[in-house]
Amino acid sequence: MAQQNIYDNDEFFNSFKGIREQDINYNDMIETPILHKMLPDLTGKNVLDIGCGMGQHAKQYSDMGAKSVLGIDISEKMLAFAKEHNSAPNITYCRMAFEDLEKLSDKFDVITSSLAFDYVKDFGELMKKIHNLLVPGGKLVFSMSHPISTAYDGVYDRYTRNENGEKLYANLHNYSIEGIRKVKWVVDDYELYHRKVSTLINEMISAGFVIEECQEAKLPDDIPEEMYQKYLDMFGGIIHHPDFIFFRVSC
Ligand SMILES: C[S@@+](CC[C@H](N)C(=O)[O-])C[C@H]1O[C@@H](n2cnc3c(N)ncnc32)[C@H](O)[C@@H]1O
Repeated sequence: MAQQNIYDNDEFFNSFKGIREQDINYNDMIETPILHKMLPDLTGKNVLDIGCGMGQHAKQYSDMGAKSVLGIDISEKMLAFAKEHNSAPNITYCRMAFEDLEKLSDKFDVITSSLAFDYVKDFGELMKKIHNLLVPGGKLVFSMSHPISTAYDGVYDRYTRNENGEKLYANLHNYSIEGIRKVKWVVDDYELYHRKVSTLINEMISAGFVIEECQEAKLPDDIPEEMYQKYLDMFGGIIHHPDFIFFRVSC
């Protein structure tokens, strides 16, 4: 398959932007707090953010004291938004696919990625390229959709529900069958890759990484009481299955 660049599709971009900019959204409420807790101290560090999208993370890393942040992404629309809304003197945005990472000549102290690796066909190859870009002792911290989520192939319901529509169980189907999934998400043929947890772990180890920490998405411990129901309504499925998985690995 050629690299998918669905974020340059107007309908998809506008829909993603709308979701990402809602006051309460998965990224800011669930994903980012977990990812950021796993980061090393970024002060004075050279950081690469892979699949930087609209640049929210790159800006946060700059604000955390990074010496430089390079954000790369395949989507012109995402990068245009990033340049307009999330710039800083030490941030550079560059159009590049993560399949072409070997073209970068600089080394980085920290490489991050937030929910972009779902789109890579060869995860093992990506891990090797990232390992080559890190200084000795450098760290990769990333999130991606959890294999329990990516197993979904669109032909069954994600949940078994009671008569009131409440989620009782998460359904799992074809988990062991790895490969491309085409599902309906904004567009009819949204594509991502499914692989097992063991594949992710073994391919990181084969690339030379030491796994330091792994986390799975969960509801935050500190939800304000008045917001609890809202969180359950929006993210309650997470109690049954974690939407995202997170790793910090080092060279
Ligand atoms: C779910 S968005 C996440 C964006 C951002 N990291 C965030 O947290 O909001 C996934 C991003 O990965 C980018 N992407 C997808 N395939 C890519 C590829 N082959 N190379 C580089 N970026 C890619 C998309 O353009 C998109 O910006």
